[in-house]
Amino acid sequence: MFMPLRCDQTPPWPLLQAHYADRGRHLDMRRAFEQDADRFAHFSQSAPHVFADLSKNLWDRDSEALLLDLARATGLEAHRNAMFAGEAINTTENRAVLHTLLRRPANVALPGDVPETAQRLADVHSTLNAMLAFAEEVRSDTTITDVVNIGIGGSDLGPHMAVRALEEFRIPSKRFHFVSNVDGHELHHVLQGLKAENTLFIIASKTFTTAETMMNARSALDWFTAQGGQDVAGHFVALSTNLEATRALGITTTFGFWDWVGGRYSLWSAIGLPMAIAIGEQGFREFLAGGHAMDEHFRTAPLAQNLPVRLGLLDVWYRNFYGFTSRCVAPYHASMCRYAAYLQQLEMESNGKRVALDGSTLTCATSPAIWGEPGTNGQHAFFQMLHQGADVLPLEIVAVRKASHPLPGHQQKLLANALAQTQALMVGKASDDGHRHFPGNRPSTFLLLESLTPESLGALIALQEHRVFVSGALWGINSFDQWGVELGKQLAKTILAELTGETPVQPHDSSTEHLVRLYRNANCDKDGAC
Ligand code: F6P
Repeated sequence: MFMPLRCDQTPPWPLLQAHYADRGRHLDMRRAFEQDADRFAHFSQSAPHVFADLSKNLWDRDSEALLLDLARATGLEAHRNAMFAGEAINTTENRAVLHTLLRRPANVALPGDVPETAQRLADVHSTLNAMLAFAEEVRSDTTITDVVNIGIGGSDLGPHMAVRALEEFRIPSKRFHFVSNVDGHELHHVLQGLKAENTLFIIASKTFTTAETMMNARSALDWFTAQGGQDVAGHFVALSTNLEATRALGITTTFGFWDWVGGRYSLWSAIGLPMAIAIGEQGFREFLAGGHAMDEHFRTAPLAQNLPVRLGLLDVWYRNFYGFTSRCVAPYHASMCRYAAYLQQLEMESNGKRVALDGSTLTCATSPAIWGEPGTNGQHAFFQMLHQGADVLPLEIVAVRKASHPLPGHQQKLLANALAQTQALMVGKASDDGHRHFPGNRPSTFLLLESLTPESLGALIALQEHRVFVSGALWGINSFDQWGVELGKQLAKTILAELTGETPVQPHDSSTEHLVRLYRNANCDKDGAC
């Protein structure tokens, strides 16, 4: 199987270093616009449902050409094709990476598809049809007023983000709740407002072993029976790849998915059930169609006109040459309030790694930290630092041309703010008074949707998935495992036994041991029972 080469070991890498040292680090976007009358036309493009202006970024045609050489030298295209074809590119888990199959129309075959593909695609569509039929049943069941999704990470962030983002399309007769944290405050607060006979619990977990979700699921089951709930089968549904474990918990209504769907890429699978209930079968199919349109763009557009590729290359350019450590994401749409949290997992769990596929330790940096809030709120909180801080923090705006609310004047005001921020960041404002001086030349990317719909959201999310793929492939890492989350989970088990008094306090590092003893001293009686 083809493996991408680490970009820092390919011939274009030193050329880019030299280009950065000679010209890149001195690039002034204001001058670049003066010198290149077609800069906007060159650095902007359409992709399915998304228009992108990349021109207010710290690059020019030469840097872009070298970055494209870098992509070719790593074998990005072959790696991308291997993903779409279903090869086991997640080598540390020996799995295919096929979230794109979840949005592929039935009966479409791609060149190079592995032999299992036809069967996998048939399974995808039969599960999808069953899941959507169930969603429609729930939508028309007037006794169900509340839907509670219990899941964490990829089993929470995607559906939560999408159900919020698409609230204009949501069935008005039902409320949606998301419980992820093992902190009982969250579940307790949600349960307080519910009645057992009117609630559907969705237990979402790819593995069905995640400690937080299992605990919340058991507590929800206990609460349901304590409230007099009779029909567990009718009020609990499980979404998982581990259907045996769902049965062990007593949940028999299940929708499965497959180990070749990564948790943070699972919104398109049965994990999307809350979204399907919220926006209906038609809406969910439109969401898949938007994702598929972006897949086709990523799969077939030439690299120089391929939006996920261009974004991924910019990410590498900023991270490895400019040394920028984060990307601020600001959706100018209040309903996209979970977008930054969603992207955090997508980018940082995928590319927050420092060992390459071949086991070597990278010498270059990888994932930026992702953070942000919807605009205009962010402007009144942290944009100060974007404009005048000592660090340069690239900004990525998502704006929507047409609002879906009827209130006059708001949308123009919102868009004027979004445009003004990117303009101010780039143009700056000279002043003799340092406090009032705006240095400018600060980068931003502007992504524009016509309107926020299931289809355009699907395209936007697939775009983000693929740009993460591109930078991960260039760094030569496996973007599809997450071993880094394991150690903390293991240690928590030992510490839990100590906090509950099940085991004596073990020798730990001094800090952890003191904190464990502090908890025990305050919570255990003289005989050591806690
Ligand atoms: O701990 C990290 C993680 O494994 C994520 O990758 C995943 O999205 C999340 O936990 C939840 O996992 P599951 O869906 O198996 O409960």
